[in-house]
Amino acid sequence: MRTLNVALSDRAYDIHIGADLLAAGTPILGRLASDRVAVVSNTVVAPLYLAKLTAPLRAAGVRVTEIILPDGEAYKNWETLNAIFDALLADRCDRTTTVIALGGGVVGDLAGFAAATYQRGVPLIQVPTTVLAQVDSSVGGKTGINHPRGKNMIGAFWQPKLVLADTDTLATLPDRELSAGLAEVIKYGLIRDLAFLEWIEANVGRLMARDPEALAYAIERSCANKAEVVAGDERETAQDNGRALLNLGHTFGHAIETGTGYGTWLHGEGVAAGTVMAAELSRRLGWLDADDVSRIRDLLARARLPVKGAPLGAERYLDLMGHDKKVIAGRMRLVLLKRLGEAITWSDASESDIRTAIDACCA
Ligand code: NAD
Ligand code: GLY
Repeated sequence: MRTLNVALSDRAYDIHIGADLLAAGTPILGRLASDRVAVVSNTVVAPLYLAKLTAPLRAAGVRVTEIILPDGEAYKNWETLNAIFDALLADRCDRTTTVIALGGGVVGDLAGFAAATYQRGVPLIQVPTTVLAQVDSSVGGKTGINHPRGKNMIGAFWQPKLVLADTDTLATLPDRELSAGLAEVIKYGLIRDLAFLEWIEANVGRLMARDPEALAYAIERSCANKAEVVAGDERETAQDNGRALLNLGHTFGHAIETGTGYGTWLHGEGVAAGTVMAAELSRRLGWLDADDVSRIRDLLARARLPVKGAPLGAERYLDLMGHDKKVIAGRMRLVLLKRLGEAITWSDASESDIRTAIDACCA
């Protein structure tokens, strides 16, 4: 097991990464506020891993409330959130009940938001089971739900007490979901870790073949990058070049997810196509050259990710992108690439350059 720490003073916590962690129980037991937990999972993940996770807790005398949600991005909404509150109340969960999110980013974001708001906040433990959740969404405390007009528009920052990433769970992940997670892994290399980017280029075949050593290394290096960024700008309040850099490709990608209907494109797929758009715009601004953009496109394609966006039309993209949380006082703040391995936030791209980059990258 490898352990990293997210250094947030009194809210600091560990990320454990390794094989066969679910059955161990001990790390979770050591972080509970009482003998009560509510495990939030979904109809796909619960049959695979819920019993394994809860057995050692029950054996230690912990009372477990199970909350099983429908599966999919389309359910990351108020109705599902309310179903979590209903179940917590029905089982008389109190303020010492620890919410445990067992699943991918959708379960993590929903359960995390429920934990942030139930009785004004209860402890949270993240047990991510997708590559995307193990390298990104379980770490850093962003929680929330979608609005029909925009991704992740309602939410709260709520840091977990612990992240437990059991790499064995990735064995059952569909190939398409594995690829979607790799979009976020590639992101870390592109925005701040050139050596990692080069390692991914050399090892993408091993990652796609689910080589356990390669996956564990990619998860650890991704989490180390994320932990460092989050520790420096927990609530994304830095004017420039803070946590917002973790959103490379996301403003374009969120527009694709919202514009095509939640769940049609996977989050990581939107990020991949959005990353190509951000790279193309960075080339137009003179920062990347054509070879850099090809290099990015090739790597994403080798991870079997889309490198062209959905054909929504540039106007629709711009409309949807106008709802992004990085828009401040009407100015669209994009994450672009100064060079491979170095991202910046940029508010001065002209609408016509953005439109041209979108058009150049759409199917
Ligand atoms: P997901 O949660 O929908 O999971 C993908 C699919 O895999 C689902 O069908 C799920 O049930 C299934 N699944 C999960 N674990 C499995 C396993 N071990 N074996 C078999 N099937 C499994 O999608 P995701 O890609 O994990 O997360 C995407 C979500 O995360 C989006 O809503 C995105 O906005 C959010 N996100 C949040 C943050 C954050 O910082 N909070 C960061 C990135 C993404
Ligand atoms: N996934 C972007 C962030 O956590 O800030």
